[in-house]
Amino acid sequence: MLPMPIADHDAITEELAETGRYVKVLWQSDDTLMFIARGRAYRSEFHINPSDEHMTVLKGEMKLHYRKPDGSEDIAVLKEGETIYTAAGIPHSPRFPEDAFLLVGERMRRSGETDSFQWFCPNCDAQIHEEFFVVDDYTKDPVSRAYDNFFDSIPARTCDKCHTVHPGRDFE
Ligand SMILES: [Fe+2]
Repeated sequence: MLPMPIADHDAITEELAETGRYVKVLWQSDDTLMFIARGRAYRSEFHINPSDEHMTVLKGEMKLHYRKPDGSEDIAVLKEGETIYTAAGIPHSPRFPEDAFLLVGERMRRSGETDSFQWFCPNCDAQIHEEFFVVDDYTKDPVSRAYDNFFDSIPARTCDKCHTVHPGRDFE
């Protein structure tokens, strides 16, 4: 069979809603990675990807928080049916509700590349934690693995500068 899979968006979003899972990988080839993601209410971290990304809102609305070169935070609001291109290296945080869905395309990571996930203090905006991951297989849901470490550690969630503790799962 030729490698030409077809992804049914409706079927996949229904499957994610029913199972409660957050990610369904459509395919991973030598070059490209495509997946559909369901929103995570708790999402607070910024992802730094060695690959470019493009994100299309399939259902609902997304607030893509991102950090400009000077470190300040801004938000791009995307409505259903819109696509955004986010170049490699831009810290970005896709925030959308649990009943909204996003189609995401990236390239497969090259040998030696590492993704990073950064959290910032909700009080003073200092960086409080960073997780590094080698993303070799997206079906392992690297975003969830990064959060396991962050949620389970009070020191990881405590700001060195102002001592505020990040609320973790209760972040809004
Ligand atoms: Fe702080």
